[in-house]
Amino acid sequence: MSKSQEIKDFQLSSETLAKVEGLIEQYPTKASALMPCIWAITDELNHVPLAGVDFLSEKLEVSKARVNEVLTFYTMYRTEPQADHVLQVCHNISCHIMGARGVIAHLEKKLGVRMGENTADGKFRLEGAECLGACGHGPVLQLGKHLHENLNPEKIDRMFEEFKRDETPRADTDRKLED
Ligand code: FES
Repeated sequence: MSKSQEIKDFQLSSETLAKVEGLIEQYPTKASALMPCIWAITDELNHVPLAGVDFLSEKLEVSKARVNEVLTFYTMYRTEPQADHVLQVCHNISCHIMGARGVIAHLEKKLGVRMGENTADGKFRLEGAECLGACGHGPVLQLGKHLHENLNPEKIDRMFEEFKRDETPRADTDRKLED
């Protein structure tokens, strides 16, 4: 689809629009709501397209450059359609020492892909990530908004049981997060 067509077709559900309005209310400035608003769009569309950048820029009264800056800085946000579940495994030093290599090997075997690849059905993507800020709880993996810590093959297997039930695996550390 061309970019101009994408912009023309951009539409958010009334639920997402209401969510964005609610988020704006919660923050002291509109600009502060940028990250949760990016999540709100991602929750519906699975990425933030070009037109979403325009929408956020207008809604939050920030420049498009600022929206793009945040959107492309954080590895959990996407500007292109992505697999249903993107598993980002930290392979930095602390997680490496705590067994990230074994976790990655287990995931590669389970999914039948290597790091940086999508499964054939487009459901999963396995990626490496630099430090996810939970070095004392490695190995860790980011799945959307959820940070899964102290991973081992058994925990990974439990996550996949939840995927099979069509549930997003909740992490031990999940606090008050929206699904
Ligand atoms: S090294 Fe893995 S979270 Fe910091």
